[in-house]
Amino acid sequence: MGPSTDGRSDDQSSGELPPQLDGLPLIGSTLDLARDPIAFLDRVAEQGDVVRYEIGGLPFTGVLHPEYVEQLLVTESESVRKLRLGDVNSAGNEFAPEGVLFTEGEQWRNQRIVLQNVFTPDRIERYGTTMTNVAARRVESWDDGAKLAINRRFSVLTLSILAKTLFDLTIEDRGSVITAVASALNEQADSSSFSTYLPAWIPTPARRRYDRAVSEFETTIHAVIEERRSDDAQSLSDRDDLLSLLLATETQNGYRHSESELQDQLLTFLFAGHEATSLALTYTVLLVAQHPAVASRLHKEWTDVLGDSDPTAGDVAALAYTDHVVRESLRLYPPAFAVFRTATEDISLGDYVIPEETNVTIPQFRVHRDPRWWDDPEAFDPDRWEESSERPEYAYFPFGGGPRHCIGMRFAMMELKLLLPTILRRVEFELLSDPDPALAPQATLQPAEDVRTRVRTRPSLR
Ligand code: HEM
Repeated sequence: MGPSTDGRSDDQSSGELPPQLDGLPLIGSTLDLARDPIAFLDRVAEQGDVVRYEIGGLPFTGVLHPEYVEQLLVTESESVRKLRLGDVNSAGNEFAPEGVLFTEGEQWRNQRIVLQNVFTPDRIERYGTTMTNVAARRVESWDDGAKLAINRRFSVLTLSILAKTLFDLTIEDRGSVITAVASALNEQADSSSFSTYLPAWIPTPARRRYDRAVSEFETTIHAVIEERRSDDAQSLSDRDDLLSLLLATETQNGYRHSESELQDQLLTFLFAGHEATSLALTYTVLLVAQHPAVASRLHKEWTDVLGDSDPTAGDVAALAYTDHVVRESLRLYPPAFAVFRTATEDISLGDYVIPEETNVTIPQFRVHRDPRWWDDPEAFDPDRWEESSERPEYAYFPFGGGPRHCIGMRFAMMELKLLLPTILRRVEFELLSDPDPALAPQATLQPAEDVRTRVRTRPSLR
């Protein structure tokens, strides 16, 4: 059912509980979710806009109407907190608990202000040159005819860009600790792996790998922080990377990151920043490879706007069709396929009430494909973004919404719009694997198998 239009009751306890998804007794829906998370979300959506189920013995409610999405993320965001992986899987607690992705209250607000002060639109624009240079160098190292798994290649690419913009490190330098921590984290959050739901004290191989990778990462980052701290104030402020900026401005902002906050912040940015962007790039390239008409319009726009040159941050605003292609790709394949919250008080959603301590799943993946808001929802149609539409604002929220929306949204959108022409004007990708890949949501919306391609180099631009 949809939201009630006759105003909501102030008496939070007066609503009824949402309908319950049929699950197996005792273990609730845990196995269904583990087997096929996407099919599980489909089942939830079939049952209504607010649906109860149980995972690992904990109460969950799926929320699928844009009006309720807005209520939970924006207008009543004070009535929820972030759901930590560790609330479901006690081992997950270890992921950057002091980073801005998971902190709450005063600590979160302070961190968010400091980060917004350094992660300004101006600064992000200045990262544009790094983005195109790093991408151009990598693509030019690929041989004509080479077979590449683009999801893996793009993951290293976006990681290199972040290593440079966050720490001023090259990945060749100390990058392997970064790659190791990224893949251990994804493995750790894999909802299809049963070990995710085992108590933390059971030392599975995945957990041992995770613990080792995080501890090596912390040692490296600690060393980098020490190196930067030994720089004088002038050379720190001459640097443009996020770490130096945080160190240089921390006292002026009146909030000083502790050592562990700083480490967690960098781990958070690396993780939140590279995997989602790399997936967005992978799915966009996959879609463009299957739609030659879209590819030719992109190339035409790039010739018209850029001539023979690589794009700069200043060109991005003029790349309107590229923007529509990226938006449409983020609609069909939102890398953050769902956001999660826990109710800190009873919340009324239309006629239903979600009791305090219920966990809430808000799946972009389903809402973005809901035929009530999208004509022909499964079709890749960048033109649907050409005109404004009547659809509710929160029918589309690839970057979340409200106070905890993605702090890297501008960075990611600019990166995608710079990388597409930089890559696709140098090489073409011939798809070798399934054009409609099976999906395996982990912490992000991963393809179940590598997206394999053959690379064809294009005639040089200049
Ligand atoms: C296409 C790429 C990206 C997508 C789809 C994406 C998506 C999201 C979403 C949906 C959230 C909200 C999570 C929630 O409400 O629970 C979020 C938060 C966040 N994102 Fe991104 N993101 C992307 C790129 C980036 C980049 C490039 C960075 C950093 C450079 C970044 C850093 C963060 C951080 C730090 C948060 C937590 C903000 C807070 O809680 O205050 N993201 N992202």
